[in-house]
Amino acid sequence: MKPQEKINELSEKIIFYRDKYHKEQVSLISDDEFDNLRNELILLEEKYPEFKWDNSPSDSVGDDISGSLKKKKHIVPMLSLANVFNEEEITLFHNRIEIDNIEYVLEPKIDGLAIALSYKNGKLDVAATRGNGIEGEDITFNVKHIKDIPLVLPENIDIEIRGEIYMLNSVFEELNQTRKKEGMTVFQNPRNAASGSVRLLDEEEFKKRNLSCFVYHIPNALDYGIKTHFEALQYLKSLGFKVNDGIEKVDNLNDLFKYIEKWDTKRKEALFGIDGIVIKVNDINIQKKVGYTSKYPKWATAYKFPAEEVVTKLEKIIYTVGRTGKITPNAVLSPVRVAGTRVSKATLHNFDLIKEKDIREGDFVVIRKAGEIIPEVVKPLLERRGENIFVTRMIGNCPICGSELAKKENEVNHFCLNKKCPARKIENLIHFASKKAMNIEGLGEQLIEDFYNLGYLKKNSDFYKLENYYDEIKELEGFQEKKLNNLIDGVNVSKNRSLEKLIFALGIRHVGEKVALIIAKRFNDLDKVIDTAYDDFVVIDEIGPEIANSIIRYFSEEDNLIEVEELRKFVNFKYIGSKVVETFFTNKKVVITGTFDGYKRDEIKAIIKNSNGDVVSSVSKNTDLVLVGEDPGSKLKKAQEEKVLIWDETKTLEYLKSL
Ligand code: IVH
Repeated sequence: MKPQEKINELSEKIIFYRDKYHKEQVSLISDDEFDNLRNELILLEEKYPEFKWDNSPSDSVGDDISGSLKKKKHIVPMLSLANVFNEEEITLFHNRIEIDNIEYVLEPKIDGLAIALSYKNGKLDVAATRGNGIEGEDITFNVKHIKDIPLVLPENIDIEIRGEIYMLNSVFEELNQTRKKEGMTVFQNPRNAASGSVRLLDEEEFKKRNLSCFVYHIPNALDYGIKTHFEALQYLKSLGFKVNDGIEKVDNLNDLFKYIEKWDTKRKEALFGIDGIVIKVNDINIQKKVGYTSKYPKWATAYKFPAEEVVTKLEKIIYTVGRTGKITPNAVLSPVRVAGTRVSKATLHNFDLIKEKDIREGDFVVIRKAGEIIPEVVKPLLERRGENIFVTRMIGNCPICGSELAKKENEVNHFCLNKKCPARKIENLIHFASKKAMNIEGLGEQLIEDFYNLGYLKKNSDFYKLENYYDEIKELEGFQEKKLNNLIDGVNVSKNRSLEKLIFALGIRHVGEKVALIIAKRFNDLDKVIDTAYDDFVVIDEIGPEIANSIIRYFSEEDNLIEVEELRKFVNFKYIGSKVVETFFTNKKVVITGTFDGYKRDEIKAIIKNSNGDVVSSVSKNTDLVLVGEDPGSKLKKAQEEKVLIWDETKTLEYLKSL
């Protein structure tokens, strides 16, 4: 393709993906893919400026895909809090303050996202996210629709206020139910939902997200004659803000521990996520004396609750079949609330674990949300085991197709080996369409299963023939034309995914996302991958015999080759991301500081990234090179101290121009 055509193609693609993301909140490609496209465009535009569009998307998009939001520098940095996990650590925090008769304010720690609200003349001027603490994103256009945040204060003051935006558990559950119905991906927890919502560019959609807000801090409180944090909270209430009414003052550790104990129970009934207790020195002058580290105030800390555990009855053990045929036992539970959401299923991982913990149907079990998302069974309560509760026996046959299960000597998992097993087929289809694979928007797991059962989807290539069933699908319950059109759009957009997505989507055993990317970059074309011999795979660093064998086996099976030919009619077989160009920066860790005449920071970054170099933000012993432009920051000094190789502006420009 000629350079001009390539520039046109890349510009169009970037605009398409950018608009899809900003106008519809649909990420059709990963941030990395998006960056790659942009970097490739920047490099080409550099070489052929005559073909660069006047309104090139390379100018208008920032560092990352969400970079179109305006940035806002915080007047006072937005710091995070250090965590403590037990009474001992709280006591250490207390002892370090070294002040007698100290008073603390204790507050439930709301699980949402921090917000800085600045008011000018009593009117809400800017609302910004925390960002990197120094600079956040301006989300005023959305925040002004949050009912808990007043637009106008009763006093004509200039003031900055900090707080937490969050989503009520009930709003979260309803939102996810709607999204599920519409075949959209669901949010993992209320915090993610809140954080995704504030960045929406569609104000109407944002209003539906129904977010809430508590405020908890005035950075310059002394300027308003406020002497204690508790007073600041009362003042915030008088200005019309919502302040959590569970906040209390204590003047000794005993009462502090009692408060934590009380809230460990209370939080389970709360209408929103509370993941800890924030402990703050009350007197603001003492706060100032105690001071700050570069990241945290030393006068405050966050006690984090241990993962919530609850007891419920294990009604039944059921077995699911994954796309590789792996059998996973799952516990069907009497529904309970854990960490804010309703849980009725938990994983039991594998049969060895059931045996080891002696988990049985009918037992009362302790369950916990590991990493807040997937619930797991911790243990059965033996003291509550009733009569007629029998030892669990592993099933011998696949629960779906009935074929005999197999288990290798040293493996913990059982497998269904029948490739035609419907469960395996459905899981394969789900994998193919999933976000990290071909990312077909508008197709949830349930819908894929329904389409399989209806005969519309049997193989991966059938996704691209769904349009043939347009009339039938339109008649299905809950299927309006809009939803169907979104689905068809999603299918069409996925046709242009880059090769690594396709390789990952095929579901070749041992080929995960990372290996798929390595293969895609190396061979650029699926046909070349198919033609590559074992020896040419194993010479690649990250590819060992097991992976190489698995790829060779996959492409030697006739069914798979027939399917590849079918897919060829619809999807892109080529690697779209930029090719690695060998330069001095290849495999080096590079720090950039200062400005460079004629080069934007992003452009230099793109060149380094395209050379497979790593742009890092701070200088350490491991840094290979520091590029020092005009007005460098403290990084230059650090580089000199660490004796890292330094290129000044002249040397850097000379090299960049030689590329
Ligand atoms: S005070 C200097 N108070 O927790 C004051 N933070 O893990 C710093 N948070 O970034 C914050 N509830 O987003 C404070 N009552 C509360 C809080 C709270 C939730 C969040 C906040 C902060 C994070 C630190």
